[in-house]
Amino acid sequence: MDEGSHSVVEETRQRQLLARDITRAFINEDGSELVALKDFSLEINKGQIIALVGPSGCGKSTFLRLVAGLDEPQAGTLLYNGQPIAGPSPDRGFVFQQTNLYPWLTVANNVAFGLKARGLYHEQKHRVQEMIDLMGLSGFEKAWPHQISGGMASRVALAQTFIQDPGVILLDEPLSALDAFTRAIIQDEIVALWQQFEPIIILVSHDVEEAVYLADRVVVMTPRPGRQIADLAIDLPRPRERTAPDFIQIRREILQLLKSEER
Ligand SMILES: Nc1ncnc2c1ncn2[C@@H]1O[C@H](COP(=O)(O)OP(=O)(O)O)[C@@H](O)[C@H]1O
Ligand SMILES: [Mg+2]
Repeated sequence: MDEGSHSVVEETRQRQLLARDITRAFINEDGSELVALKDFSLEINKGQIIALVGPSGCGKSTFLRLVAGLDEPQAGTLLYNGQPIAGPSPDRGFVFQQTNLYPWLTVANNVAFGLKARGLYHEQKHRVQEMIDLMGLSGFEKAWPHQISGGMASRVALAQTFIQDPGVILLDEPLSALDAFTRAIIQDEIVALWQQFEPIIILVSHDVEEAVYLADRVVVMTPRPGRQIADLAIDLPRPRERTAPDFIQIRREILQLLKSEER
């Protein structure tokens, strides 16, 4: 086997999420068509963190909903592990901007919710406390969602999703409502969770610094209909240094790409 064909085999084996030429349009109330995504393509290998950045309304959340299986494209191919995505699955977890907490459940029961729903709680009960401890939520097990801070609510939502060990985790601006200090701490917690569970993470963020801090690749999108204009590898070692020249340089590059698309 020559080297070329070997690398193709290797690539096919490792490629876990594949979106090719995805189009998703909506019909407005007046009957006009709104094309959210057009010919959007993206390939994500096992265990990568991908950040999607682009102007508001360019189809980022739409793409996450498609990957979650909550919506279907009108055209294009969307495969996970070589299979078409046909609906929601616990193997593809979603953390929304508005945290996903059930207000009628305690912190511990929110974290345990997915395990219980899947009949795994009995055998994996110990993991709930481990996750609570890992996320610094110890002592708040019996608290209700309305009693905890925004940062803690984000931690509970992340715990609730990561504990189920999904192959793909979709994060739709999960930290955008938090202050910068709390956000920075939770970004490190996301890296720690990712290193432990090794899912593919697709992160949508308005915050270019957050994207560069977390992602292996930052995909920059055009205004609606959203397409890729750049796919930048962030080859900086973790933990990353926000003030390092390489960090600042790539952040500036992304901001310039976004600015050039505004015109
Ligand atoms: N269910 C829907 N019906 C009609 N229009 C929608 C629907 N979902 C999204 N859109 C529109 O599609 C575009 C892309 O939305 P979205 O994916 O939420 O953008 P963003 O990149 O800001 O996350 C927006 O113009 C939005 O108004
Ligand atoms: Mg959105």
